[in-house]
Amino acid sequence: MDYFLKQYGLQQGALEIQYIEEFFLDFARKKNAAEVVQRLAHRDHQILMAEATLPDSSGTVVPVSYRVSHELRPIESDAKLADLVGRLDGTIEFEDQKVLYNWLGATRMDWRGQGQFRALTEEQEVWAIARGYGEVVVKTKNRYYGMRGTLDSLQFNVIKLEPSTDPLESKVYLSKRLGPGVLDAHRGRRHVVRA
Ligand SMILES: CC(C)(COP(=O)(O)OP(=O)(O)OC[C@H]1O[C@@H](n2cnc3c(N)ncnc32)[C@H](O)[C@@H]1OP(=O)(O)O)[C@@H](O)C(=O)NCCC(=O)NCCS
Repeated sequence: MDYFLKQYGLQQGALEIQYIEEFFLDFARKKNAAEVVQRLAHRDHQILMAEATLPDSSGTVVPVSYRVSHELRPIESDAKLADLVGRLDGTIEFEDQKVLYNWLGATRMDWRGQGQFRALTEEQEVWAIARGYGEVVVKTKNRYYGMRGTLDSLQFNVIKLEPSTDPLESKVYLSKRLGPGVLDAHRGRRHVVRA
């Protein structure tokens, strides 16, 4: 299968994220464009989307999957990110390598299981390695079984578990080292344009 990906600049990408998040009814707090701009404006970041044709006869192309990542620094002034760095203390090496954080990402229901998220992840890895990132981290919760299974398939390793009284709410932190072997494992045929 061929995958059609777009890498967006900040302003347009933020609007696209706001648009696509409306399709995810299970997300408690959807991100709006202003929040996205605020988080990404002063840090290295990537906004990637996959597009596909609607399964009707219209030929309309729509965004179906997205992945947003940004640099995570050892010292963060943003309170949420400073908290994240603190929680990762002892599990991630921040001093000797650039660390990428997978902030947002999902695939619309009707397009799941077709490799869209793998294609975005592979493209992100190409970009991240070219920019000198050594490791990519992500956090999720026990209850997101689909995401956990996906991260497993994409060869992320669990680096920390923060237990909660409700096990479904326990937070799981995972990472993947971006060594040379990572690119060899890529399989999707990707067509990438910059919007
Ligand atoms: C997780 C999610 C992004 C996967 O997207 P997708 O486009 O369907 O994923 P892909 O088709 O690219 O699959 C990538 C790999 O993950 C595996 N995978 C996908 N969904 C899976 C699931 N529900 N359970 C186990 N494995 C799964 C695939 O088999 C594939 O592995 P392979 O390439 O080795 O065969 C999508 O299901 C989703 O958006 N879920 C909701 C998001 C969410 O839960 N967010 C919570 C906050 S973290």
